Amino acid sequence: MKKRILIIGASGQIGTELTAALRKKYGGHKVIASDINEGSDELMESGPFEVLDAMDYEAVQDVIITYEITEVYLMAAMLSATAEKFPMKAWNLNMTSLFNVLNLARENKIDKIFWPSSIAVFGPTTPKEMTPQHTVMEPSTVYGISKQTGERWCEYYHKRYGVDVRSIRYPGLISYKTLPGGGTTDYAVDIYHKALKHKKYICFLDEDTTLPMMFMDDAIKATIGIMEADAALIKIRNAYNLSGMSFNPKEVAASIQKHIPEFTIEYEPDFRQDIADSWPQSIDDSDARKDWGWKHHVSLDEMTEIMLENLRDTYSS
Ligand code: SER
Repeated sequence: MKKRILIIGASGQIGTELTAALRKKYGGHKVIASDINEGSDELMESGPFEVLDAMDYEAVQDVIITYEITEVYLMAAMLSATAEKFPMKAWNLNMTSLFNVLNLARENKIDKIFWPSSIAVFGPTTPKEMTPQHTVMEPSTVYGISKQTGERWCEYYHKRYGVDVRSIRYPGLISYKTLPGGGTTDYAVDIYHKALKHKKYICFLDEDTTLPMMFMDDAIKATIGIMEADAALIKIRNAYNLSGMSFNPKEVAASIQKHIPEFTIEYEPDFRQDIADSWPQSIDDSDARKDWGWKHHVSLDEMTEIMLENLRDTYSS
């Protein structure tokens, strides 16, 4: 079967690593990267790149036809903290881009879609510990509302039109290759940069704010894993819960101090504290494990080692 993949939002935090992983697996020319902004040198040099606005239906369709695309990974979105500042812009981007690819699949122009959901679909009334797959969902952020609505539409397009759309609810994602943009969990990336650069970090969340998190390699494995699974195994067509680890800022700081004993952290919570407080602390992902064989690998201390080792050169002079 001739598989050709389009990644929309390829220059972003997840898109950059996903593009690299998919190009390694299928070959550079089989994976078309696209974004409104150019990406890293590696992304630009390792295969085709198109400047593409995910909101422009005609433009997305043109790229799909030109490259004979069979699968789309739609990674373009406005994240939780930025979305609170620009609610209508976030809603328009997050929903229009999704409808564009869902409708292209409905018209049989593509065979399969990956669309990311998030732990932000949950809200203050959701059980916080080991949040079940099926539970109360009353998100209180614009981002969460857009993700929950998106989930409903994915399931609807699957049931009503047979669209093969697959999704997971990502926790906070941590990587050393690309910076996150505008999320509530971004501190968990920034803290490693600041630990190496200044030996000090001022955290915008309180010390005991526990959130579900995951190292990027695991998230990429899950993403490619769900897309490669046999369609019959994908029983949930809104989005699967996915869990790696849970920690709070105090625990990351302690993990960093094992390598940089002089590292200190202070807490100055801002508007993002309210967002974090509305989200779960840990996630029950047994359906993903049972249905399509998901397994996580990287723990907090392992991640700390990988992060510090890979970022060290950037900050040593
Ligand atoms: N990491 C995202 C955010 O903080 C959650 O999906 O917005």
